Amino acid sequence: MTSDWWRTAAIYQIYPRSFADANGDGMGDLAGITSRLDDLQELGIDAIWLSPFFTSPQRDAGYDVADYCDVDPRFGALADFDAMLAEAHARGIRVIIDLVPNHSSDEHEWFQAALAAGPGSAERARYLFRDGRGPAGDEPPNNWESVFGGPAWTRVAEADGTPGQWYLHLFDSSQPDFDWTNDEVREEFRDILRFWLDRGVDGFRVDVAHGMIKADGLPDYTPPADGGSMGGGAAVTAGVPLEPEISSEPGDLAPYWGQDGVHDIYRDWRKLLDEYPGERILAAEAWVDPLPRVANWVRPDEMHQAFNFAYLETPWDAAALRHVIDASLDAFGSVGAPSTWVLSNHDVVRHATRLSVTEANPQGHGLGSRSKGLPEYEAGLRRARAATALMLALPGSAYLYQGEELGLPEVIDLPDDAREDPTWFRTNGERYGRDGCRVPIPWEADAPSYGFGPSEASWLPQPAQWRELARDRQRGTDGSTLELYRSLLRLRREHDLGSGAVEWLPGFRDDVLALRNGDVIAVANTGASPVELPSGDVLLASEALTGRTLPGDTTAWLRA
Ligand code: NOJ
Repeated sequence: MTSDWWRTAAIYQIYPRSFADANGDGMGDLAGITSRLDDLQELGIDAIWLSPFFTSPQRDAGYDVADYCDVDPRFGALADFDAMLAEAHARGIRVIIDLVPNHSSDEHEWFQAALAAGPGSAERARYLFRDGRGPAGDEPPNNWESVFGGPAWTRVAEADGTPGQWYLHLFDSSQPDFDWTNDEVREEFRDILRFWLDRGVDGFRVDVAHGMIKADGLPDYTPPADGGSMGGGAAVTAGVPLEPEISSEPGDLAPYWGQDGVHDIYRDWRKLLDEYPGERILAAEAWVDPLPRVANWVRPDEMHQAFNFAYLETPWDAAALRHVIDASLDAFGSVGAPSTWVLSNHDVVRHATRLSVTEANPQGHGLGSRSKGLPEYEAGLRRARAATALMLALPGSAYLYQGEELGLPEVIDLPDDAREDPTWFRTNGERYGRDGCRVPIPWEADAPSYGFGPSEASWLPQPAQWRELARDRQRGTDGSTLELYRSLLRLRREHDLGSGAVEWLPGFRDDVLALRNGDVIAVANTGASPVELPSGDVLLASEALTGRTLPGDTTAWLRA
């Protein structure tokens, strides 16, 4: 196994609920993942990251963990995890799991103990319980809002039934925030890390890695109106070019995001991980702005990678893309870390839709039947394929989200009563939330649930369009999105693009990006009118080419 594997890895995100369902209950599971590892090997990825499969009441699709060291029966058992891990490793695929340290589920035994033990107890001190404001204590301790909408505080009833203290939850009320100044919390998470490292995992994607420490005194704070839903500052306005300047000035951080103290936690964890052989990694989910600030998460003694949400948030616009690529390579490079690249995940509108939406759609709000400015499927897909071909030409580590290799769009027409995202409930349906990117994926055109599982069951309804997009329809089909991804990943590996560097090539129109990475030239036409390709054999193109003309919304790779 090569060293520094994570610097260049193509990492495929599995959303276990929606990947493959072995037992036919309509919810994906670990045995389902095991059964589909050959397909992932064939795709050509280096590692998988699994969103949570731990014991959980599933109020936030598993990001509400009730037992960090066990598998939820919906997904199987620890033995299924061990089997999946062994089978992945046998295929040379590394496995990263999700760690959710900012908050637990309210069904976690610690939170239940905190409720029972009452104010001032050691049990309450593991979470952020406070007395309310106002003479009767019936106003929340401060004005913070939940990321999912509504207040970030919920009042509990004390043992005698009287209204009591309030607890902080930056997300759903079922997700109480831990108090990370408490040593007991720190010790517990060291044990959790060891539990999974001993089982053989290759690393952790750390949820809300910017949120664990809150400013002293929990001061009031009103976020900017255009703040992203997971934190950060800049507006995420798909389709509308970001002014590069917007993302380069550090704004004020909220008193719950990006506080200095979080870095001590990662230094501690890094030492722990380094005790294990085989380069186990930490990847930060840190929605902070701008990029140089994100680079603080990946200083040499902290985490290995941080998701590049600035890249994900950049519209399909040559100037904005060039700016964010340079800024990423500078920021991460300045601390010796690789840049990462990502276009889709389980929290954002799938990029086959998002990059072509013409109306503002703040991240986390989602799309649904009332949304305006939605693209035609073909136009959206075309742009997404070009965007992926640009992304996979860049040096560093790239994250892919299950289903993007099939060209899946966001599902817009989910019935209201099928939606499960807490965002939908906490905003009374004003925000659609994230269910549209979480619909179980299609494997076989003519099987029940399009091959997701052995029955028709699917926890979110699958659109009829899944039939033509099923993996078996695309496999071996020239020009299919699946075959495009396979070629991109194969050429990326053969030409070592992950460990290269970007050199911009001059002499192209403003809406065209041309870069050289090693012996590959990538030309991305973000405009509508065609452009002549430079010399060099064409290695691939995201759409069929006629001669040496690169049409609009298309990317080609050439041999330099
Ligand atoms: C980020 C996760 O990706 C998202 O799905 C989740 O809702 C929040 N963190 C809270 O854990």
